[in-house]
Amino acid sequence: MTQRKILVTSALPYANGSIHLGHMVEHIQTDIWVRFQKMRGHTCHYVCADDTHGTPIMLAAEKQGITPEQLIERVHAEHFADFQGFHIGYDNYYSTNSPENRHYSYDIYQKLRDAGKIVSRTIEQLYDPEKGMFLPDRFVKGECPKCHAKDQYGDSCEVCGATYSPTELIHPYSAVSGATPVLRESEHFFFRLGECAEFLRDWTAGHSTLSDGREQPHLQPESLNKMNEWIEGGLQDWDISRDAPYFGFEIPNAPGKYFYVWLDAPIGYMASFKALCDREGLNFDEYFKADSSTELYHFIGKDILYFHALFWPATLQYSGYRTPTGVFAHGFLTVDGQKMSKSRGTFITARSYLDCGLNPEWMRYYIGAKLNSKIEDIDLSLSDFVARVNSDLVGKFINIASRAAGFISKRFDGKLAAQLSDTSLLEALTAPAENLAQSFEQREYARALRDVMALADQVNLYVDANKPWELARQEGMEQQLQQVCTVLINAFRLLTIYLKPVLPKLAEQVEHFLNIAPLTWADSQQLLLDHTIQPYQHLMQRIEPKLIEQLIEANKQSTPTVSEAAADNYEPIADTIAIDDFAKVDLRVGEVLACQYVEGSDKLLQFTVNLGFETRNIFSGIRKAYAEPEKLVGRKVIVVANLAPRKMRFGVSQGMIVCASGTDDSSGLFLLDVDQGAQPGMRIG
Ligand code: 2FM
Ligand code: ZN
Repeated sequence: MTQRKILVTSALPYANGSIHLGHMVEHIQTDIWVRFQKMRGHTCHYVCADDTHGTPIMLAAEKQGITPEQLIERVHAEHFADFQGFHIGYDNYYSTNSPENRHYSYDIYQKLRDAGKIVSRTIEQLYDPEKGMFLPDRFVKGECPKCHAKDQYGDSCEVCGATYSPTELIHPYSAVSGATPVLRESEHFFFRLGECAEFLRDWTAGHSTLSDGREQPHLQPESLNKMNEWIEGGLQDWDISRDAPYFGFEIPNAPGKYFYVWLDAPIGYMASFKALCDREGLNFDEYFKADSSTELYHFIGKDILYFHALFWPATLQYSGYRTPTGVFAHGFLTVDGQKMSKSRGTFITARSYLDCGLNPEWMRYYIGAKLNSKIEDIDLSLSDFVARVNSDLVGKFINIASRAAGFISKRFDGKLAAQLSDTSLLEALTAPAENLAQSFEQREYARALRDVMALADQVNLYVDANKPWELARQEGMEQQLQQVCTVLINAFRLLTIYLKPVLPKLAEQVEHFLNIAPLTWADSQQLLLDHTIQPYQHLMQRIEPKLIEQLIEANKQSTPTVSEAAADNYEPIADTIAIDDFAKVDLRVGEVLACQYVEGSDKLLQFTVNLGFETRNIFSGIRKAYAEPEKLVGRKVIVVANLAPRKMRFGVSQGMIVCASGTDDSSGLFLLDVDQGAQPGMRIG
């Protein structure tokens, strides 16, 4: 077999959030593939890193009162430990804030400049005059220009799905300081992606010929269709610079200008590999020179295809490096058929899974059993997870060893038979090795594991037909017992080979139990005879359903890390204000006199509120949370009484009723209460 040289990556997780099972799907998918390639005897390197640059990380660090460097160092340690906990076997897990990444970012930028692919242009962008910074789209909020939903992000509306530019928002405000942003000019650098359409048309539809002669399409068919749509829709030049303050690499000869995080993130793949090359004496150029015959694969989520299938190959091509051999996109993870949710406890962090005492190989197996080469979302059904792992891994696979191993130890001193009179079952197990290999190679893990379990079923039929426990009780059946148990131990060894990419730790325990060197794929063509094995120790427990309940509870209660909280669980705490600033807000106790639906709006409720000294008409966007407005009549609420009146489509709103809310719709909206005795009109403060 030709020995291939392969470099593989998973997408780089952002350094301001915890690793969750959504990340794990991708890193497990990649790790299975890499371990498989290594078992086949190929040279395969697997690198990853934390994606450390950009505004959110800069602001998260600031909120925590630490430097971005301190934040990313802490998160790096957490991420690495989480991935290790799931046995993800990177050859290097690095950081994009590294000297190697700076070097290659400069190098690529310079080469793109020399090739005439960089232009500078003055653009207008929203600027936060209080904070003194330009605002990324996600940091501008306001009213949706289409459906008028409040507090929508600057790029798209979560209520009606409209996309727009942040300058189109009504009443925009900075999510950083609350200030009203102003338009300001700034010089930006652009990568002329528009000029790369010809190249990208070819590359996206193209194939690479591998060293073993096979043709590898660069993209999956679904990705290719999507890219065609984008290319034919016209490619815009890509803005690769950001203004200070920014956490990232300052652009050479452009003081105050930084590379946009998405420019240096994929270069982080090269940088992580370079660090590995330096550590292990590998030849970096062999992998990245333009005419490299090595293979380069990126495993990614479907949401970042644009970056990996358009920007990244174009960047590499026009800076004189090789382009990827394949970009493998996967779908999203849902839990029990729904988007992962913090309130339901299904936003499961890798750490909570491990800390609850769940075996990471259960999840590796379950995810593996769901994955194929398509861009389909995969569902983690919690009850199916328990049933499947218990039935497949414990009931079918481990059962084989536990039926046979005790007899070999106790009755034959650990010795397997020297010869077998009937090898038909084992032949049936060695024959599909190449087919199974093809399934792994093509990332059809679900098919591979289904086939392996069908083989395990055959072995269990053999157990039932030959009943070693009965042979053990019968006089003169010693030899037969050793034959049957030797077949079973060999069957178990063969199944272990096929499962090893998915269950590497279990395979290691089996290698120890069988007293053998690490198993490779080629070992599937040999049997283990006339060999002494170690006493058997139980290899895997069943999943107790109560562990799953604990896991969900832990994720409901778990206090997110501060960085995670700042990123997406809570609104960041606003900038400090003086007492005088607070006094400007006149909060009053109000009493709801009437409350009703507003015709033509599915968001608003119309309140008539008694403020003691006067009655106000107030529109409030809380209909979703309070579906029965009549029930609110008579209750007390808190009103911002000195808010400028606002003309709305349905009338003038004379104030605001305050509510508690989280950062997304699923967290709900909650009116505030006052204790008994408070009277309408009383001031709060
Ligand atoms: O989407 C993300 O989570 C990014 N941090 C992925 C970066 S992948 C690569 F290009 F660096
Ligand atoms: Zn909208």
